[in-house]
Amino acid sequence: MKKKIIAYNRVEQPVLDDLKEKYDVHFFENVDTKKDPAFLEHLKDAEGIIGLETPVDRDLLENAPNLKVVSNVSVGYNNLDIEEMNKRQIMATNTPGILTDTVADAVFSILTAAARRIPELDQFVKNGNWQTEAIGEEHYGTNIHHKTLGIIGMGRIGKAIAQRAHFGFDMAILYHSRSRKQDAEATFSAGYRELDELLQESDFVCMITPLTSETEEMLGFREFQLMKNSAIFVNGSRGKTIVEKDLIKALEDGEIAAAALDVFENEPVEPDNPLLKMKNVVTTPHIGSSTHETELAMSELAAKNLEAGINGENPPNLVNP
Ligand code: DGY
Repeated sequence: MKKKIIAYNRVEQPVLDDLKEKYDVHFFENVDTKKDPAFLEHLKDAEGIIGLETPVDRDLLENAPNLKVVSNVSVGYNNLDIEEMNKRQIMATNTPGILTDTVADAVFSILTAAARRIPELDQFVKNGNWQTEAIGEEHYGTNIHHKTLGIIGMGRIGKAIAQRAHFGFDMAILYHSRSRKQDAEATFSAGYRELDELLQESDFVCMITPLTSETEEMLGFREFQLMKNSAIFVNGSRGKTIVEKDLIKALEDGEIAAAALDVFENEPVEPDNPLLKMKNVVTTPHIGSSTHETELAMSELAAKNLEAGINGENPPNLVNP
């Protein structure tokens, strides 16, 4: 009998097709894991789960007595209750490495878009306003090159952002991280700073740390107030690493100049979220790693992790050894 697997979005189709040949795969899209009767029924004898960002909590695990592995199609795994998984000896895996440059490209793109006001000016041209309005100060952006970029979280992606900023844009790099990163200091002349100092000195503040109990709500109103009034805040990590209502207030009060956000406290972001009405806020729908090439590579790696886990081997990217 084929082993049972639950898959949910986002597993790319060729990978899903390949898994279906070998396993009894049940695919769910935007499933309510607490209520969906078919999901709960299949969960009882599923040996593996593969997908993106669906919460795997105690309730789910209680209903999954045969589960061996949960394979996240993402580098972040804040959706997994690792402690509960450890108690039940269930493996958790992620997809690090292959998305590093793609996420760094995305973060740098929204940073650039906010600084040069690309979405706003795009609308200006497409709405025909250029026909009647002369270009002037009210359309200007702010320089990126030779400015100071403060990176919070100098892991793989942080370093890839620093590389773009330092070599491509002649930016000065500051960073705050759990530990000193000698390689980043040597390669990008990155300067370590305590958090408050980094916030005070940076022109751009980029959040790229994983969401953990230590980083949850790391930036609130006090921290936004410490930033320069001209600062642009960029979040490519997780929405919950900041206090979103405090970011809204900081933007409303002019404590900072603009924000570029790929992530939100709640996703999908509520349509009435005030951030969506602000001209100085650039948004994307948590899509940092989502290019055709990288999504496919992530699905392939996640499938490798899943298959190793359900077949009693060591998955290449185990996060709870
Ligand atoms: C990741 O890989 O963690 C991306 O943010 C997608 O969730």
